[in-house]
Amino acid sequence: MSVTTSSAQEDRAAEAVATNQVIVLFGATGDLARRKLLPGMFHLAQVGLMPGGFRIIGAARHPISTDEFRALARESVAGSGRKSRVDEAWEDFGKTLGFVGVGDGFEALGEAVEAARAELGGEADLLFYLSLPPKAAAGAVEEIGKLGLDENARVIIEKPFGTDLASARELNERLHSVFQENRIYRIDHYLGREAVQNLLALRFANGMFEPVWNRNHIDHVQIDIPETLSIEMRGSFYEDTGAFRDMLVTHLFQLLGFVAMEPPTSLEPKPLGLEREKVFDSMLPLRPEDVVRGQYVGYRQEDGVDPSSDTETFIAVKTYVDNWRWEGVPFYLRSGKRMAESHHVLTVAFKQPPRRMFPLDEALIPEGFGRDHLTFELGDPGSISASFLAKVPGATMQLGEAHMQFNYADAFGNNRAALDPYERLIHDVMNGDRTLFTSSDAIERLWEISEPVLESPPHAIPYEPGSWGPEEIDELIAPRRWHLPSDHI
Ligand code: BG6
Repeated sequence: MSVTTSSAQEDRAAEAVATNQVIVLFGATGDLARRKLLPGMFHLAQVGLMPGGFRIIGAARHPISTDEFRALARESVAGSGRKSRVDEAWEDFGKTLGFVGVGDGFEALGEAVEAARAELGGEADLLFYLSLPPKAAAGAVEEIGKLGLDENARVIIEKPFGTDLASARELNERLHSVFQENRIYRIDHYLGREAVQNLLALRFANGMFEPVWNRNHIDHVQIDIPETLSIEMRGSFYEDTGAFRDMLVTHLFQLLGFVAMEPPTSLEPKPLGLEREKVFDSMLPLRPEDVVRGQYVGYRQEDGVDPSSDTETFIAVKTYVDNWRWEGVPFYLRSGKRMAESHHVLTVAFKQPPRRMFPLDEALIPEGFGRDHLTFELGDPGSISASFLAKVPGATMQLGEAHMQFNYADAFGNNRAALDPYERLIHDVMNGDRTLFTSSDAIERLWEISEPVLESPPHAIPYEPGSWGPEEIDELIAPRRWHLPSDHI
């Protein structure tokens, strides 16, 4: 595990993958492959983090030639902004790419894998990256099993991991019919974020934060991922998914796991995973009355969207982690499309002091201050700020809002070893490091606590694009108020 110290971070830069790999990328012509996966693997190769020998076989239902796939990959890399001088470095990388159509069966894939292995001298692990919807992913895994390609193989599955508890169980059963759990990597790119792992460092490498990280001192926690983006041409995917499944059951709950977990016995995959699972086990089932679903005005006119759709493009929930540390502390989670600003923010708000020693009549407290709090901007490279009350110089005890801010970029500069979250996670899989991946039990538990809302979802309330969501979210958090990311950043 390599999240602890800066020297460990530097070591990881030199840590190429030891075994040769044949990577089969399903959904190779799709959006994620073009935006993240192909550019990501190219970048890994450029910084020396791919194995000495590797081949990438693109697979998709509609066949294209290897030359066409290479051209698509090159265009993706050039358009990704990840690497400015593609030309010089492309030659070697391009040669590692091949393509197989699987629309009429998987036999050709088996042959392509064998050929790739032979080119690498016969010895190579297999990595299947399934950038596919859940049903198609389960089908692909079964075909992989039939071809006997599950030996020395790992498989990466993309979210959503099912659409409810029953489908998640079925998906897991189908995956387990071919692969053992320790060979399955459920990828959530939020866990590959540098800033998320920094949360571990902040909490467990310092003596300052952890003692107050509990119900005795913390009043509430807010995790906020507003996006200015719309659904971006993903109408039919989004119609079946919505913000609840797309963002809450995945990214937001996973972040909550890191925020709320107990100190693990070590930073090894097993204890870290166990502590996150214990958080999910302690979460109370969501109550429909603690959930606001919203839909931006104009969503129903997007391509691929039902004109009478009730799919939510915004979700806000109040939830509780019902354990010794967090009993009674509400966690407010929010995310939505076409909102006022884009951020990834965690706010930890503290309880008021037990006695009011200061003449705090309304006029003397800065408007809307709420409570002293820590704000973590989890975007890369990220920042941490503390907001608190301080005395305004002068004859009266006037209080003003004060801030202290720490920026990762200012402190550590541009870290050359830093990887994009997908790059980081793909590299971890090739090295067999499961630390930042989620088990089938954890996934099923998250669907289980979501069941009451999936069964009786409140109606999706319209909100104006460019806003902070439907007004009803104020009632959800009252008497507290939502911390707006732009207050601090
Ligand atoms: C994806 C969702 O998983 O995460 C998208 O499907 C969302 O709807 C995206 O926009 C957000 O990721 P990031 O890294 O841009 O915050």
